[in-house]
Amino acid sequence: MVISVVATRPNFIKMAPVIEQLKLNKIENYFVHTGQHYDDNMSDIFFKDLNMPAPNHFMNIRPGSHAEQTAEVLIKFEKLCMELKPKLVIVAGDVNSTLSCALAAAKLNIPIAHIEAGLRSFDKRMPEEVNRVLTDHVSDILFATERNAIENLKNENILKQKIHFVGNCMIDSLIKNKLEIKKNNAMKKYRLEKDDYCIATIHRPSNVDSGQNLKDLGSFLNKLSNKCKVVFPIHPRTKKMIEKFSISLSKNIILLNPLSYFEFLNLVSNCKFVLTDSGGIQEETTFLGIPCITLRENTERPSTVDVGTNHIVGLNYKRAFELIMDIMANIHKSKNIPEKWDGKSSLRIIKIIKNFLNSYDEEIE
Ligand code: UD1
Repeated sequence: MVISVVATRPNFIKMAPVIEQLKLNKIENYFVHTGQHYDDNMSDIFFKDLNMPAPNHFMNIRPGSHAEQTAEVLIKFEKLCMELKPKLVIVAGDVNSTLSCALAAAKLNIPIAHIEAGLRSFDKRMPEEVNRVLTDHVSDILFATERNAIENLKNENILKQKIHFVGNCMIDSLIKNKLEIKKNNAMKKYRLEKDDYCIATIHRPSNVDSGQNLKDLGSFLNKLSNKCKVVFPIHPRTKKMIEKFSISLSKNIILLNPLSYFEFLNLVSNCKFVLTDSGGIQEETTFLGIPCITLRENTERPSTVDVGTNHIVGLNYKRAFELIMDIMANIHKSKNIPEKWDGKSSLRIIKIIKNFLNSYDEEIE
């Protein structure tokens, strides 16, 4: 048996195609949801859109500080591993639950496969960077989405034999669901026209947990909304902070609750550009050829800048505004799709997992 773990929205999207492959290849999979994201519109709706099975185990962890969240998953996952004795634990991405489950498994000498290994922002102030580095260093099979990630892992002295360049499972989900995304009626529902609006998604602590940064962001979005329709689906963290710091947003901004997978990607596929601080959205826009302006100082996904449509602007709103004016005048850089972002990453992953499980059984015999 293997255990696969999900916790948050981006995890669901990355893990869905792998779970499907485990089933098709008749590999017994005990599927765990830690409950880090728990609202219907942050979790259940993604399970439905991505056609994921109900988890075998829902941990129902409580929201809390980083230490509380990480510790609660660590303790609960250790118990589960001791009871089930899996041959492999599969984790994805860089969220707190990813690190907790990897750490619990490592201490029990259970092998770990990490989907999306090797990405580095080299910015330790980001919780995700800490989670990524530590998870990679206790993992046995490291699945990389881009070549930079392989170099990062080698530079950290991770054995070459452990690293596999498989491409991007998030793009597998996007390709698999392209018809549903196209058919979705989100544009009609929110009375939008193709190329006539932009989407903003902001949730990073560095942008929303500081009153001043959030105020600056609010002013920028208000100014932008005089030039272009701004659609702003609000993450629960951002919503709380907008209320806490009493930020007033222009009536022109179309505020929405978090969207389903199909709705969100339908809106992204048809918009003029995206403003974001998310990791995954930098990749999805690159694949879709939609200009992306990233409100962060750095990215752990450099291929979205080198090959794709992404621009890193930090908190330089002047630069962001200039870029937006170019994009609206149809002046923007040409785009390509990074290597192996071809919808076949989960097939590559399953082949490697099967080989690993076969050699594991031979060792036991
Ligand atoms: C987490 C990840 C981040 C990822 C993001 C995707 C970590 C360190 N961060 O950030 O890397 O990009 O998920 O969205 O793991 N909340 C709800 N309902 C929910 C989920 C969260 O109200 O369904 C609230 C929580 O109670 C908390 C806040 O939103 O107050 C933030 O949630 P949390 O899971 O701590 O981190 P994210 O900001 O979502």
